[in-house]
Amino acid sequence: MEHHANLLPFFNLSKVFGFKLKLWKMNDNLELDIKDLENLLTNKTKLLCVTHMSNVLGVVNNIYDIVKFCKENGIMVLIDGAQGIVHSRIDLSELGTDFYVFSTHKIYGPFGLGVVYVNRKHFGRQVPPFSGGSMVRSVFFNDVSYLGPPMFFEPGTQAFSQIFTFKYSIEYLKSLGLQNIEEYEIELTKYFINELNQIDFIQVYGYNNVSNKRFAIVPFNVKGIHPHDVSFLLDQYNILIRVGHHCAQLIHHKLNVPATCRVSFSFYNTKEEVDNFIQVLWKIRKFLYL
Ligand SMILES: Cc1ncc(COP(=O)(O)O)c(C=O)c1O
Repeated sequence: MEHHANLLPFFNLSKVFGFKLKLWKMNDNLELDIKDLENLLTNKTKLLCVTHMSNVLGVVNNIYDIVKFCKENGIMVLIDGAQGIVHSRIDLSELGTDFYVFSTHKIYGPFGLGVVYVNRKHFGRQVPPFSGGSMVRSVFFNDVSYLGPPMFFEPGTQAFSQIFTFKYSIEYLKSLGLQNIEEYEIELTKYFINELNQIDFIQVYGYNNVSNKRFAIVPFNVKGIHPHDVSFLLDQYNILIRVGHHCAQLIHHKLNVPATCRVSFSFYNTKEEVDNFIQVLWKIRKFLYL
């Protein structure tokens, strides 16, 4: 279910360090089932990397259960929060994951900055993952002493301007209320799916129902038409959607299509926009003689 960003780095590291990578496959409901995870584990399993929310399917993984399960089995967990952080409220101290990562531009913040949450239990490391300036207490040729976290993990000059502006994104989202955003997006997705399900030339992937476990991001295809043609036509009506494999080709292998169209809702989208979108889909159909 992973975005390539949470897959390819581990492919590459496994080549360098020679560890084995295993894939936790989705079931036919396009979900990750913990029972399937159990079958993958051995006493050599060290780390589970999993997305909080799929950037293609809108599926929200049961990360509380996943973290609990991994803790019980002595496995570290890294959660890709690039989508989860956008659409739902998350309390990392309650979750207790080892690592949680996301880019700030995903939550309406600046580009070029990312956040890596590191659980305190990893603060005792002796060797930093990256090193450079601004992170040492003292350096002798044979003896280096590092500053504590967060500096321990943050070598080099900081992205001050991005960090400064990111604060305002957080404050803005907090003022809207993350819970409110989630509830609003769920309602909007319900409305949209209900409309889409009435159109016979549209195929939606994986939305039997909408809930806080699947919402906001909807993959679909206009039957028989390549997604790039759909996006070109939508563009003529000033509607911008992302099409392609969305940097998640493994999901598309499972869906058995090379590409999909994706509508992704935010707090600023409206039911009127959904209505307009549906009308435009009908215009596209007429244009293409479907
Ligand atoms: C789930 C998920 N993970 C990772 C990423 C990668 O983020 P970035 O492009 O900031 O590296 C994205 C971006 O779309 C994403 O949706």
